[in-house]
Amino acid sequence: LVLHKVIMVGSGGVGKSALTLQFMYDEFVEDYEPTKADSYRKKVVLDGEEVQIDILDTAGQEDYAAIRDNYFRSGEGFLLVFSITEQESFSATSDFRYVGNKSDLEDKRQVSVTGAREKAEEWGVQYVETSAKTRANVDKVFFDLMREVRAK
Ligand code: GTP
Ligand code: MG
Repeated sequence: LVLHKVIMVGSGGVGKSALTLQFMYDEFVEDYEPTKADSYRKKVVLDGEEVQIDILDTAGQEDYAAIRDNYFRSGEGFLLVFSITEQESFSATSDFRYVGNKSDLEDKRQVSVTGAREKAEEWGVQYVETSAKTRANVDKVFFDLMREVRAK
């Protein structure tokens, strides 16, 4: 059984846990409970092949930065999440692949699609907008990342 290890990174409150829980359980969690570190495991069918995905959901809040940094070495693929409603969470991003979450909150958008795409292009990574609330592109980001990791 092929195993894919994915690590969720990004600032506090951007929706890393909500995306993970939506992917895992088809459920949107409305409450905000800052994460220390949680891991999840699921068997999925990726292009006809059964694979296992291990998701490490890390802490965005600085209080937990040390815990988070310990895990960085164990990942193969990273989903770097920011919130389109929070400019600061966008500026804090520097690396990896790129997920603009909370796309259901268009009326509160602070980060433009164009700005995000330009940054992604600079790094040679893909930019995707998601909503953990509506499930928009949730499967896509996880499955595309597994494909990318597999191809390496
Ligand atoms: P840390 O664990 O502290 O790093 O935060 P996090 O990135 O895991 O954020 P979390 O998933 O806990 O979400 C923070 C808040 O944003 C919660 O109240 C969620 O319900 C909300 N939220 C997350 N994703 C979305 C989304 O796509 N749309 C909307 N409207 N709200 C969202
Ligand atoms: Mg969290």
